Amino acid sequence: MKTYLVTGGAGFIGSNFILYMLDRYSDIRIINLDALTYAGNLENLKSVEKDPRHIFVQMNICDREGVRGLFEKYDIDYVVNFAAESHVDRSIANPEIFVETNVLGTVNMLNCAKQAWLKDGAWAQGKKYLQISTDEVYGSLGETGYFTEQTPLCPHSPYSASKASADMFVMAYHDTYGMPVNITRCSNNYGPFQFPEKLIPLMINNARNKKSLPVYGDGMNIRDWLYVEDHCKAIDMVLCGGKPGEVYNVGGHNERPNIFIVKTIIAQLHDKVDAGIDESLITHVADRLGHDRRYGIDPEKIRRDLGWYPETMFEDGIVKTIDWYLANGDWMENVTSGSYLEYYKEMYAGK
Ligand code: NAD
Ligand code: TYD
Repeated sequence: MKTYLVTGGAGFIGSNFILYMLDRYSDIRIINLDALTYAGNLENLKSVEKDPRHIFVQMNICDREGVRGLFEKYDIDYVVNFAAESHVDRSIANPEIFVETNVLGTVNMLNCAKQAWLKDGAWAQGKKYLQISTDEVYGSLGETGYFTEQTPLCPHSPYSASKASADMFVMAYHDTYGMPVNITRCSNNYGPFQFPEKLIPLMINNARNKKSLPVYGDGMNIRDWLYVEDHCKAIDMVLCGGKPGEVYNVGGHNERPNIFIVKTIIAQLHDKVDAGIDESLITHVADRLGHDRRYGIDPEKIRRDLGWYPETMFEDGIVKTIDWYLANGDWMENVTSGSYLEYYKEMYAGK
């Protein structure tokens, strides 16, 4: 039986990953370490609340003694580090917490794993540390070309700078101590349980309530969208088959300008919710500072080496996603109410 220490497992991708893994494997145990910031929601994991294979621990990844204690208590085989501050706009308003969680937190996770797994100069067998990174560490593309694993890191936002910095520490632990690590760099995910500060759930929520749809700049910035379950499948494959020290880009060649995404959501909600929902809700607002123009992943390495390919076409995935948010209005109400606002107030207090 393998034991996974999943950090950030109450967030969007982390909770989807836990559900994916528990559904796929009967003989695993997942320790879910999450600080439950505004972005973490245990309701995402309601369906596995009573499952003995899922053990939730509320903890900060920066907590040295706490994380060390978990390694002592459980014989952990895999660390999957999702925990992060993940929103670019927040990183522009308040960069420090991105350094704390994304950089210092990652280094703490690496240190604790190293302490548990490196004994008398030898690494215990079958262990792996997987860092969940992002295509944003590569910076911005022009009209042509794709990010490969050889593309130099060139982050622009405080968020992507913190993720790139974390990636460098992960590789440094491999190069210096021989730690068995992998890094995945995935493109933008969409699907159930994404916090409605991000483009797709925000637009669905606003449109549903006939509120304006704030499109940054000209709306022609391009993101490469992947259905979250396809990302989960890639992570599982990298854990099982990734060569230590390797980086794997994950993406499904699904580039779309933001305005196309917004218009797709409007068209769906126009038909499914209210004929009064139309493109007059679109409001072009001031552009994001340092806004990356285009992301595009070349997924050839993970396809060739591990046999990964995306299973959900965007046309199906976006309909499934919209239907999920429409059917889960309570979830949306819950995450946009009390605790989120409290956290937000605290975060910006005095800044
Ligand atoms: P999210 O913001 O939805 O969830 C983050 C989770 O981490 C939350 O549950 C939160 O409570 C937890 N967390 C935050 N700070 C913590 C701390 N100090 N200690 C413990 N837990 C903490 O993020 P997400 O969209 O699920 O992203 C997960 C990971 O995937 C991140 O590392 C992100 O950089 C990466 N990623 C995201 C995308 C995307 O499109 N969302 C794409 C590629 C990579
Ligand atoms: P986001 O979901 O924040 O992801 P990321 O910045 O990590 O790619 O944003 C996706 C794109 O949508 C990005 O180009 C910014 C844009 N955007 C808007 O135009 N309006 C919005 O309200 C939001 C949140 C994002």
